[in-house]
Order: sequence, then structure tokens, then C-alpha cells
Amino acid sequence: MDLPGKVSLITGSARGIGQAIAFLLAKHGSHIVVNDLLEKEGMETVQAIQKLGVKALWAKADISNEQEVERMFSEVFKHFDNVDILVNNAGVGSPLMVEDMSYEVWKRVIDTNLNGAFLCCKQVIPRMQKKKYGRIINISSVAAKKISYHGSAAYTAAKAGLLGFTRHLAYELAPYGITVNALCPGGTLTPRIRERVTQEEMDAEIKRFPIGRWALPEDQAKAVLFLVSDQAEIITGQALDVDGGELLAWMDFETYQKWRKRFVTKG
Ligand SMILES: NC(=O)c1ccc[n+]([C@@H]2O[C@H](COP(=O)([O-])OP(=O)(O)OC[C@H]3O[C@@H](n4cnc5c(N)ncnc54)[C@H](O)[C@@H]3O)[C@@H](O)[C@H]2O)c1
Repeated sequence: MDLPGKVSLITGSARGIGQAIAFLLAKHGSHIVVNDLLEKEGMETVQAIQKLGVKALWAKADISNEQEVERMFSEVFKHFDNVDILVNNAGVGSPLMVEDMSYEVWKRVIDTNLNGAFLCCKQVIPRMQKKKYGRIINISSVAAKKISYHGSAAYTAAKAGLLGFTRHLAYELAPYGITVNALCPGGTLTPRIRERVTQEEMDAEIKRFPIGRWALPEDQAKAVLFLVSDQAEIITGQALDVDGGELLAWMDFETYQKWRKRFVTKG
């Protein structure tokens, strides 16, 4: 799964899932562009990646802002000829119910999760087409297939939209040898979640996951590594659930066993 000399840009990679993806792709030989709004964490991530022996570049930009995205990529293309791997990972939610949500909040969630991916894709596609190579990964969510726990209707809508965008873009870019896939993480223990939830609450939530544990940022990164590797060169337009079976579980395992046993007949 080596990515020697490849250039990967991961949006929102100063922390959490994006940072784990950046570290893993770097460990497999890719140069990395770290994008985020968080300057201190972003610079620290860049320094840690440089220690792995690849080039790393800090690219601060709000990916929901067209001018900032254009400026970021013109800077990136001064350092690298191409972006071979684009991971649209930056995302935000909001805990508000629809009746309490301003149009501004709705737009911020859609702009970051969905429109930001569109803006970044637009910048990399022409060079990928010329090279006849590219890997685009859109980080969606299990919320795209059910609903979000705490991200709001705007988040669910944006992440579902990202799956439609993934399928359509995959079709448009397939003739150029460019694959486009989505990842649907289930509940993933990032520092942001650890800060807000007690150990007791985290343990209680494990019943959501048939596999018996929370996903970690590194689990999401491993799935991304597979999808950008040559092992997955024929896979495009797909949405991979990385969720320990969370989407399968519409009841906890104890309830499943209770009901199943009622219908067991002898012989
Ligand atoms: N953690 C989970 O349980 C989970 C589950 C499903 C999907 N996801 C998705 O995975 C992705 C990463 O989530 P995470 O849990 O690591 O979140 P996180 O908040 O820890 O990281 C997201 C990063 O994106 C950055 N960001 C936000 N808005 C930005 C913008 N406009 N421009 C540039 N950077 C911006 C943030 O500063 C942050 O560093 C998100 O798209 C999220 O929706 C997470």
C-alpha cells in the first residue's frame, strides 16, 4: 500500500479523523498538505509529519469560502505539481432542532460539509485529468444513511448530499482513471468526543456497536488508505461504512437474543 511521491491534501486535518488520515498516508510515503482553520494544531501536525521523512505543508483556509479555497490551491501548486489524493474531511454539525436553527447555521453546516468538498474537487480535477490519475475520498457519515445523533438535520442532509455528489462525480471522472469514494464513519472516538463524554457514557454507548467497541480515528484512516491504494483501483462511486456494524444494529444484542429465542422450536 505504498504511496511514494504522491501528494495528499486532507481538509480539516489538524486533529481528529483528518489528522489520523494524514499521519497514515505520510507513513506510507505520501507528501501531505494539512488544511484546517486551527493554526496551532495544524502547524504541530505538519511538524510531526515532517519527522516521518515526507514533505508536509500547512495550508490554512476556510474550505467553505471560494476565494480562500482558490488561494490555498494556488499556494499548494507552487510547491507541488499535482494533488493526487484529496480527502474532503472537514466537517461541522450543530445540535439545534430545525425550529431553533437560523438559516445562517443551516448554511454553515451545508457549506462546510458539502459545498467545501465541491470547491476543493473543482481545484484538483483538471490536474488529475491531465495526469490520468487521482483519488478523491469524501468523508460522509452513517448519518447519511440514517440520521445524526447530535449534528442536526442540516448535517444529515449535507452528509447524504455528499453521497450523491460522490456517485455522480465518480461517473464523470471514471474515464480519466480517477476514483471517487465516500467513507461513512460511525461513532468514532476523537479528542472532540472524548472531551464531551464521560468514560461511563462512552462505555454505555458501546451497545450501539455490534463489534463491541467504538471506532478510532485510526480505523477510519486504514479504510482511506485502502481506498486510495492500488488495491482499490477498480472501486469507485461507493460509500464504505466504517462503523463496527452500527448501521446494522436497530436493536441491542440482548434484545435481539431475547426475541430470537422466543421463536426457537425443537427438532
Ligand atoms: N467523530 C465521529 O464520530 C464522526 C462520525 C461520522 C462522521 N464524522 C466526520 O468525520 C470528519 C472528521 O470528524 P472529526 O470527528 O475528526 O471532527 P473534528 O471536529 O475533530 O475535526 C474536524 C476538523 O475540521 C476543521 N474544520 C471545520 N470547519 C472547517 C473549515 N470550514 N475549513 C477548514 N477546516 C475546517 C476543524 O477545525 C477540525 O480540526 C467530519 O467530516 C465529520 O463529520 C465524524
